[in-house]
Amino acid sequence: MVRKIDLEVIPTPGRMTPNQDLQAAREELILKSQSFRRVECDFGASKGKFLSESALLNPTAFFSGIEGISDRVKRANRKIQRLGIANAALWRGWGKESLDELMPAAFLDTLHVSFPDPWPKRRHWVRRLVNVSFLEVAVTKLKADGVLRLQTDDLRYFASMKDQLSLHGGWIETPWEDDLLRPFTEFETIFREKGDPIGRIAVKRLKS
Ligand SMILES: C[S@@+](CC[C@H](N)C(=O)[O-])C[C@H]1O[C@@H](n2cnc3c(N)ncnc32)[C@H](O)[C@@H]1O
Repeated sequence: MVRKIDLEVIPTPGRMTPNQDLQAAREELILKSQSFRRVECDFGASKGKFLSESALLNPTAFFSGIEGISDRVKRANRKIQRLGIANAALWRGWGKESLDELMPAAFLDTLHVSFPDPWPKRRHWVRRLVNVSFLEVAVTKLKADGVLRLQTDDLRYFASMKDQLSLHGGWIETPWEDDLLRPFTEFETIFREKGDPIGRIAVKRLKS
């Protein structure tokens, strides 16, 4: 399925609003997450459905989110507060740089990238998030045993994700099912209802 992307809504690198102060946010994230057994990050968390539901289902884990559109971040954090959820929070950030600025090194047990904008036209492929330079940052933020979970409804993007993983190197596939309860993301719900195929892969670092 080719999804229409609203170029007025999705900030492109040329017309970004500045990221919030992610250095300060990093301190906040460390404080908020320190009493939890594991920390996860949902990159491109949108309105926080997956984050808030994951937090309620898995109270011993902390769920952080990065999202580029500030209204979505505000809305998600308001919902998290209203529900009294202590183990989830989102921050406004754009691109791999925001992951780099927000996350301490070797901090994450799991990094989720679910249904990133597919940019189906060849001339827009450079805007795709999952590429070698994103993986370069991701690898420094995951713990030694940490898992990167990628899913998309765009099967050509899925093939490209697997190519980028091979190009970057040192990743090994691991089972998609794990010990946590995993709610559907907002987009996953839509694609499942339509019966669209979904490509998903979970990978971790090869032990040297
Ligand atoms: C297609 S939606 C998927 C949302 C959610 N992950 C899901 O599965 O329902 C992609 C989300 O990622 C955000 N996004 C896209 N590119 C981004 C980037 N480079 N940095 C941060 N957020 C981004 C968009 O604003 C949007 O909310």
